[in-house]
Amino acid sequence: MKKTSNTLPLCLLTILLLSQICSGIKWLALSHTPTSLHINQTQHCKLLPGLVSSQAQLCRSNLELMQTIIAAAREVKKTCQKTFADMRWNCSSIDIPSDSSKYRPDLDRGTRESAFVYALSAAAISHTIAQACTSGDLRLCSCGPIPGEIPEPGYRWGGCADNLHYGLVMGSKFSDAPMKMKKAGSHANKLMHLHNSEVGRQALRDALVMKCKCHGVSGSCSIRTCWRGLQDLKDIAIDLKTKYLSATKVVHRPMGTRKQLVPKDIDIRPVRENELVYLQSSPDFCAKNDKLGSVGTQDRQCNKTSIGSDSCDMMCCGRGYNPYTEKLVERCHCKYHWCCYVTCKKCERIVERYVCK
Ligand SMILES: *[C@@H]1O[C@H](CO)[C@@H](O)[C@H](O)[C@H]1NC(C)=O
Ligand SMILES: *[C@@H]1O[C@H](CO)[C@@H](O)[C@H](O)[C@H]1NC(C)=O
Ligand SMILES: *[C@@H]1O[C@H](CO)[C@@H](O)[C@H](O)[C@H]1NC(C)=O
Repeated sequence: MKKTSNTLPLCLLTILLLSQICSGIKWLALSHTPTSLHINQTQHCKLLPGLVSSQAQLCRSNLELMQTIIAAAREVKKTCQKTFADMRWNCSSIDIPSDSSKYRPDLDRGTRESAFVYALSAAAISHTIAQACTSGDLRLCSCGPIPGEIPEPGYRWGGCADNLHYGLVMGSKFSDAPMKMKKAGSHANKLMHLHNSEVGRQALRDALVMKCKCHGVSGSCSIRTCWRGLQDLKDIAIDLKTKYLSATKVVHRPMGTRKQLVPKDIDIRPVRENELVYLQSSPDFCAKNDKLGSVGTQDRQCNKTSIGSDSCDMMCCGRGYNPYTEKLVERCHCKYHWCCYVTCKKCERIVERYVCK
């Protein structure tokens, strides 16, 4: 019998045979966990979908953290879909099924889209943990440290800072675990996913800002109490979407003694810490192609007056679009009555909308 050559990368072979291992974001299947499941026994860890062995171990050793990680998985899904609602690829692939035999690995092909999802996932998990420390949901952590520098006159440190440090330590321990496994697929893919996860965490560090509350006689704000808090995840996602649009294609090449990811076309320079990188070019996402993770844009809503990615030209890939009308019911002719209520009438308005052919 002919020996199978190693032209087929191990990762791909693994996908074909096991449709397993190669993914670092299968933990996002946790978003399907029923809200009624209250994780307070180590046996519950076995009921959770998508975990690799070291993640399951983390679950058993830190049960209370799991509820927060499940919340993070839900956040990733919601935020990704919202951030990409105006794009041809609308984050459809993120709905990781809890049944691993139904798993389609299109986010593991090393595309620009997977770069975004890994970065957002890494940012989201650390974000959620950092804020769970602040809100008192986790017993093993509390507020972040008070900054060392002295604040400006009129300001003082107080309140409870988001515990970014704890979030980053525990978040990366969990979300990087699949890429740290020996069998986890090709070296190039692992490097790519780890790099992009770190870009996500850097975007999170950049989102730690000063937040203040006013005090003083009748809101005069003569004194402000301030702490370091994280911006909303949706703002971090917008930052990462900009990085997605300018992501750099890389190749896996020997650099010195080891193989590394280096930019493909540009001058010889190392990959930058704040840029997303990808190995595989993406399809245009115009037509349906299950293998490539494209659901196509047929029946997607488009905007006739926009000149951006949600314009009918761009969204429908030149196929044209169908108008339909929608009846909106709104409150109108509102009147203020002394004292103290408002009455409104209901008005109907017909708006024209468009969907791609
Ligand atoms: C676990 O949580 C459930 C639901 O809140 C509760 O009914 C049960 O008593 C808890 N079990 C333990 C061991 O704390
Ligand atoms: C993404 O687009 C597909 C194809 O048009 C559609 O079926 C799906 O509902 C969309 N997903 C979201 C979250 O909008
Ligand atoms: C369509 O795009 C225009 C211009 O960007 C914007 O003002 C408008 O709100 C959009 N309409 C819808 C229905 O999203």
